[in-house]
Amino acid sequence: MTLSLGEVVIVSSPQALQEILTKDNNEYEAPGSKLLQPLFGEYSMFSLEGDRHRRERKLLMPPFHGDRMRNYGELICNITKEAASNLKVSNTFIARKLMQEITMQVILQAVFGLYDSPRLSEIRSMLADFLELTASPLRASLLFFPALQKDLGPWSPWGKYQRQQEKLNELLYTEIATRRSQIYPDRTDILTLMLLARDEEGQGMTDQEIRDELMTMLFAGYETSATTLAWAVYWIYKQPEVYQKLMQELETIEIDTADPMTIFHLPYLTAVCQETLRLYPAGMFTFPRRTKQPVELQGYHLEAGTMIQGSIYLTHHREDLYPEPKKFKPERFLERQYSPYEYLPFGGGSRRCLGMALANFEMRLVLATLLSNFEMELAENRPVKPQRRGITLGPAGGVKMLMKGERKQVEKKSPSVAVV
Ligand code: HEM
Repeated sequence: MTLSLGEVVIVSSPQALQEILTKDNNEYEAPGSKLLQPLFGEYSMFSLEGDRHRRERKLLMPPFHGDRMRNYGELICNITKEAASNLKVSNTFIARKLMQEITMQVILQAVFGLYDSPRLSEIRSMLADFLELTASPLRASLLFFPALQKDLGPWSPWGKYQRQQEKLNELLYTEIATRRSQIYPDRTDILTLMLLARDEEGQGMTDQEIRDELMTMLFAGYETSATTLAWAVYWIYKQPEVYQKLMQELETIEIDTADPMTIFHLPYLTAVCQETLRLYPAGMFTFPRRTKQPVELQGYHLEAGTMIQGSIYLTHHREDLYPEPKKFKPERFLERQYSPYEYLPFGGGSRRCLGMALANFEMRLVLATLLSNFEMELAENRPVKPQRRGITLGPAGGVKMLMKGERKQVEKKSPSVAVV
């Protein structure tokens, strides 16, 4: 690659990955991304590096910790049920769109504590439009070629970008100001936490710092989770044996009253989510790492300053680790344990995905809620191919599905189609 990153060495062997991800600080460092700066700002987690980056992660990590997820369980299930109930029975829908609606609500409500208000609706629709701009390869190329970042009026690609960003900023800054004027310290959302945070000198985060992190989390957690969920429903409905096994497992619990943690620990559901993230990981690469000094990496000599990225996709498709790598086989995760360098859908080391616990929790609860409550099927039989959507690898066309109705009603009407 010789874009704005310069030349990049790509690695996919578990040994090389272990080396670049665990020798952070010493031989390798994890530089901040200049590429994403125009979108998320200089104070975004993506842009920060070194001590600033470490401090920011320490600050933002607690709300993403596994234990906190329990609080979000009921909310995730309710959001899912509501979004799916709004779909018209006997009509087709695009799975990715449904999932985008769900994951956007989850982030806005559970993580940022933005509850229903006219401003929330406005932020939601502006954000969806703005993030859509990063979704096509053509538009995402604006990021890779800084020379294209010229504001030539509202109709030029970068001009459009800039105007949308200005409008969105206005909304976000108003929300930040409103929340600053009345802080509820017992609230557990990340926005409250950022408003309360103080450094050693007692300084709080500025509005711009908070805006940059809000945008970062929204971007990082919305498209990735939605894309993965769309892939998951595709594979579940594409392979009847997977659907059957999953339904058998889900029928062992009472979905409306089950503890979210019980759902989270269901073994087959877990394996389905793991295999979905293996086959087409939404993040295909780790963020770049850079050598701090000349190093020998797996027999190759690399000069100081060399950029290296882990290819998560290639690692997950290694025949030696995953026989028949193109096949969707959740069983492989029940039969074998993989090391964090053989299976790494959330990257690793000092930049490992901050939202990993939330994403894992959300995926399982959304799928369990959908499958237990609604009867659906694929609307088309042809295979769906992976297609780049900006920086993620999504299903082409977003997976067209048919909503048959709420499970109980469908079962009452026609018992023969209860469980396929
Ligand atoms: C299925 C869903 C997701 C996938 C596959 C995913 C994947 C990734 C990957 C591969 C990285 C790069 C790690 C590295 O360089 O080692 C990353 C970083 C990150 N992710 Fe996620 N992610 C997901 C969901 C989320 C969610 C829900 C959030 C937050 C709400 C989030 C926040 C972040 C942040 C802030 C970073 C940057 C961390 C840093 O620079 O220190 N992600 N993610």
